[in-house]
Amino acid sequence: MATCVKLNTGARMPALGLGTLRSPPEKVRDAVMAAIDAGYRHFDSAYFYMNEHEVGEGIRQKIQEGVVKREELFIVSKLWCTFHEKKMVKVGCQKTLDSLKLDYLDMYLIHWPMGFKAGDKLIPLDENGHAIRSNTNILETWEGMEDLMDAGMVKAIGISNFNHAQMEAILNKPGLKYKPATNQVECHPYLTQVKLVEYCQSKGIAVTAYRPLGCPGRPSAKPEDPVLLVDPRIKKIAAKYKKTSAQIFDFELTQDEMDTILSLNRNWRFCDIEMCRYQKDYPFAAEF
Ligand SMILES: NC(=O)c1ccc[n+]([C@@H]2O[C@H](COP(=O)([O-])OP(=O)(O)OC[C@H]3O[C@@H](n4cnc5c(N)ncnc54)[C@H](OP(=O)(O)O)[C@@H]3O)[C@@H](O)[C@H]2O)c1
Repeated sequence: MATCVKLNTGARMPALGLGTLRSPPEKVRDAVMAAIDAGYRHFDSAYFYMNEHEVGEGIRQKIQEGVVKREELFIVSKLWCTFHEKKMVKVGCQKTLDSLKLDYLDMYLIHWPMGFKAGDKLIPLDENGHAIRSNTNILETWEGMEDLMDAGMVKAIGISNFNHAQMEAILNKPGLKYKPATNQVECHPYLTQVKLVEYCQSKGIAVTAYRPLGCPGRPSAKPEDPVLLVDPRIKKIAAKYKKTSAQIFDFELTQDEMDTILSLNRNWRFCDIEMCRYQKDYPFAAEF
């Protein structure tokens, strides 16, 4: 069985998952099927990625072939910012379930803390190029997420891109029914997130790292940006173990090597949502 992280729901989340961001719809079905054949059981999806229909086809095909059972898979998706109004949370989740052709999700996350004006545009912009916000707040959105648990549509709920104060607001919410099971955040040697990780661990909330490789193929890359996978200190450690810079399993690093990797932190974000910087719930102005 794959290495797993035990969640505060009691469920086990496979530690390694296949991300589906920017995986083209015409390719992602085959990628998901190949990943299941290769042993992946955790899949990270989102309404925003506009390929959930094809992700679902790949999953369904492998279940029909008898390669995996639904209960062996751990399927994650995310509520997009235009569905933050409490009564819209169920609508957003149902759209994702329909696309993925599933009865339930193993984990459903609030993709970002900011709410956008509801409608067909994924990121509705004003005349200045700023995202148009909704009048929602993270606590009412969280109540909508809790309703999904009670309706049996999801087995765990969590958050993504929330800073420490936003997490604390949820944890301190009067009448809280379910704690977030995970916070999915950007995390890699250039953004080690030590304080946020410590905070999450102290509250029994698992951390899921996204952009773990520093996303070398991202369209927003500038020539002067640091490139994690060719960082000489990472390459040196990889060479010692006869691994590539991207490989992470079946060997152990020494404490010195872990300290070296942690020392690469430069609080560098590859993933930002710049058109939201002025918004009240923009998460990255805080220290952590
Ligand atoms: N919650 C959020 O807001 C959020 C934000 C961003 C991402 N995510 C999730 O996290 C997942 C991973 O993040 P990401 O895709 O942005 O970044 P990433 O995993 O750091 O980087 C993906 C890139 O790494 C390359 N790559 C993969 N394996 C490699 C290897 N063994 N050696 C060299 N290069 C390799 C891929 O190249 P190829 O394309 O050539 O394979 C791709 O361009 C996403 O798919 C998504 O599910 C969540």
